[in-house]
Amino acid sequence: MRIDPQDTPSAKLYFAMASIIVPRPIAWVSTLSRYGIPNLAPFSFFTGVTSRPPTVAICIENRPDGSLKDTAQNILETKEFVINVVPSHLAEAMVATSGAYPPVVNEFGAAGVRAVPAERVKPSRVAGVPAVIECSLHDVMEVKDGDEITSRIFLGRVELIVVRDDAVDERGHIDSRMLDPLARLGGSDYARLGEGMKIQRPKV
Ligand SMILES: Cc1cc2nc3c(=O)[nH]c(=O)nc-3n(C[C@H](O)[C@H](O)[C@H](O)COP(=O)(O)O)c2cc1C
Repeated sequence: MRIDPQDTPSAKLYFAMASIIVPRPIAWVSTLSRYGIPNLAPFSFFTGVTSRPPTVAICIENRPDGSLKDTAQNILETKEFVINVVPSHLAEAMVATSGAYPPVVNEFGAAGVRAVPAERVKPSRVAGVPAVIECSLHDVMEVKDGDEITSRIFLGRVELIVVRDDAVDERGHIDSRMLDPLARLGGSDYARLGEGMKIQRPKV
């Protein structure tokens, strides 16, 4: 199959990209509106970007009607967010927070998850997750299709990383398997970590 963006509708392009750029980590992003209303939603177009300064990126598309998603609006206005790593046992709660709730709805309540205070930023962490990254807004890149802004890439400056103690060994090394992180595949498919392998890099 060849997929040429010149003659492919954007929904089909999305499904093709989401099905082959896999497995994707999921940033379960907590923000606060300018009125102080908590918001929680998942984003899998997410990655680490640089370690100096430490930055991460999440990509948020506009809604089909062109309006900003609440997470994007909140980050633009309050400039802070928390990325929660999703353990597989919170998969359904995470998906529940992807509903297009109006901005006045506190999605922590809608998904039945508890909020716990963060240390360096105002938005809360999700209780029971194995790792969090507290971020301030470093930069925003607008992605345009012609003149229309369709999405934004938010670069988050990492202010603090907190990992649950049982995922860290006595040398301070993090065991990713202990996080039991959920990964996103295409459509409604998700995956857990499978068999791993260790490969040493060449010492040249
Ligand atoms: C696992 C998962 C990953 C998602 N990843 C993205 C993403 O990377 N970018 C995006 O714009 N929407 C993504 N969505 C959809 C948003 O979560 C959804 O639009 C949500 O309603 C946004 O909430 P908000 O308006 O409270 O910000 C994803 C949904 C799920 C279930």
